[in-house]
Amino acid sequence: MGFNIAIDGPAGAGKSTIAKRVAKELSFIYVDTGAMYRAVALYLIKNGISPEDEAGLLRACGQIHISIEYENGEQQVILNGENVTGQLRNEEVGNMASAAAAKPCVRETLLTLQRDLAVKADVLMDGRDIGTNILPDAQLKIYLTASVETRAGRRFRELQEKGEACTLEAIAKDIEERDRKDMSRETAPLKMAEDAVLVDSSEMDIEEVAARIISLYRERR
Ligand code: C5P
Repeated sequence: MGFNIAIDGPAGAGKSTIAKRVAKELSFIYVDTGAMYRAVALYLIKNGISPEDEAGLLRACGQIHISIEYENGEQQVILNGENVTGQLRNEEVGNMASAAAAKPCVRETLLTLQRDLAVKADVLMDGRDIGTNILPDAQLKIYLTASVETRAGRRFRELQEKGEACTLEAIAKDIEERDRKDMSRETAPLKMAEDAVLVDSSEMDIEEVAARIISLYRERR
C-alpha cells in the first residue's frame, strides 16, 4: 500500500496549488477530487439537468463515466471519452458542483474511483471528505483553511488573471454560500477529521504552507 496524504478544506483555501506543489516535491500522484465533481456538474449543465430533479439525476449518474489520466504529471479528467479538464474551473461549474455534490448518487459514483486511485501508489488527494470518508486510514490528514476574506481575494485574482468578469463581493458571497452548503449537507459534509492537522493559511504564503505539510510528512514516514 502507498502512503496517502488527505487535504481537505473549504473553497479557495489554496488546496490545489499547495497540493500540486507538495505532490511534485515528494513525487506523489496528485488527485484533485473537486475536478471530478466539476466534471459531473459540467455534464448536468450541458444536458440541462437540475440536481433537484431526482429521476433525471439518477439517470445521469448511470450515464456518467469519469476517468483520470496524467499528461506531463497534470491530472486530466475524462468525461464519457472527452477530456474536459479545460472546462471545469469557472464559477458556474463550481456552484453546480457544490449542488450536485450534496446528492448521494453523485458521491457514490465517484467514491470507488477515488479509493481505487489511492491504493495503487503514493497519493496526495484533496477535496472535502477525503480524510473523513474516502481515505479514513490516510497516514497524514491536513485540514487547510483561511479566512473568507483571504480566500475570496485569492479566487478574485485567479479569475481576473484568466480574464473572467467578477467582483470581490460576489466571490465572497459565493464562497460563503458554498461553505454553508458543503458543511451542512447530510452526505459526507465538509468537516475536519479528528486526526487531521489544522493549517490556517490566512497569514502564510504558499511556500510556508507547503514546507509545513512536507515536514509533517517527514515526521510520519
Ligand atoms: O475544490 P473544488 O472547488 O474544485 O470543488 C468543487 C465542489 O465540489 C465543492 O464546492 C464541493 O461541493 C464539491 N466537492 C466535494 N467533495 C470533494 C471535492 C469537491 O463535495 N471531495
